Amino acid sequence: MSDLPVLVTGGAGFIGSHLVDALLARGYSVRVLDNLSSGKPGNLPLGDPRLELVEGDVADVGLVRGVMVGCGAVVHLAAVASVQASVIDPVGTHRSNFIGTLNVCEAMREHGIRRVLFASSAAVYGNNGEGEAIDEDTPKTPLTPYAADKLASEHYLDFYRRQHGLEPAIFRFFNIYGPRQDPSSPYSGVISIFTERAAKRLPITLFGDGEQTRDFVYIADLIEVLLQALEAPQVLPGAVNVGLNRSLSLNRLLEEISALFGGLPEVRREAARPGDIRHSRADNRRLMERYRLAEPTSMAAGLACLLGRA
Ligand code: NAD
Ligand code: UD1
Repeated sequence: MSDLPVLVTGGAGFIGSHLVDALLARGYSVRVLDNLSSGKPGNLPLGDPRLELVEGDVADVGLVRGVMVGCGAVVHLAAVASVQASVIDPVGTHRSNFIGTLNVCEAMREHGIRRVLFASSAAVYGNNGEGEAIDEDTPKTPLTPYAADKLASEHYLDFYRRQHGLEPAIFRFFNIYGPRQDPSSPYSGVISIFTERAAKRLPITLFGDGEQTRDFVYIADLIEVLLQALEAPQVLPGAVNVGLNRSLSLNRLLEEISALFGGLPEVRREAARPGDIRHSRADNRRLMERYRLAEPTSMAAGLACLLGRA
């Protein structure tokens, strides 16, 4: 473990703030760069003197350069996390999701920082491998600006690895859920939206027939993997799926939520969203080869933790 601070871009968001907590608990100091577009200062333990929050944009190259001074490693999470938001605003999304990555790569090269963890996405596969577990060699067909920016970011990180000695650990997250995933935006993760609305007895909107499936991963399991990648003596090339090879339809998810709340509010059905992926389930053999993940959190346990009933 290095004494130098870890820079976490997007550290005030859902995944980032959990990572910040875990890093501080392991004795790291942490610098967060976040424009607070969806993240919140309240997600962070700002009273901890080892934590510094810099409010600003990863698309601002001068700022990214400056904020990296003295850092030992980078975890690059800052992005518009919503696939649908990217469909509505491709240009704004590209600034954050691609230019931001390029700025991080350039600043790392300039400062001689090597290790970077990157949050790519299962979205890069599009609908390829439909219904089957998707391994990392499955052809990539990004269907949305979000997915295209993630895939392009992966390629640039790999270029900086080959050309400039960066050590990128690229992860293709499947659907991560847990506390602090903001339920207030319609573009947030489905579990946070459905559980919040069930708790408040507000109508739930189901896009499509509800038979689309996702491979949901509880946040604590992801954080385990990220910490190992940060501290690994070396990083092998090639992206790694972070999924559990478990598939849950939204209809089944609603049943689980109904059981927890003793019923559901009204469920309103709307057309499937543009660019929405039908089935998504990870072949996670590479994840299991490279990292230790003791017993992945079950959906029942994850939902209980999310609702504070664990
Ligand atoms: P989030 O919205 O909670 O976190 C993203 C953070 O980045 C927020 O704090 C936001 O304010 C910040 N941000 C956005 N644009 C920025 C910019 N231009 N400059 C600086 N900060 C900016 O979402 P999350 O779920 O925590 O996602 C974190 C990362 O993981 C994202 O890159 C996302 O694409 C990726 N990811 C998430 C999931 C998931 O299921 N949650 C799955 C695959 C990939
Ligand atoms: C999610 C992540 C994305 C990540 C991808 C990887 C978020 C916001 N999105 O996208 O960053 O790259 O996983 O697999 O974290 N739905 C409803 N009603 C709602 C909300 C959603 O029916 O109110 C449906 C959607 O149409 C979709 C499914 O639920 O079919 C999942 O949606 P969402 O949680 O937004 O996730 P992804 O689009 O899979």
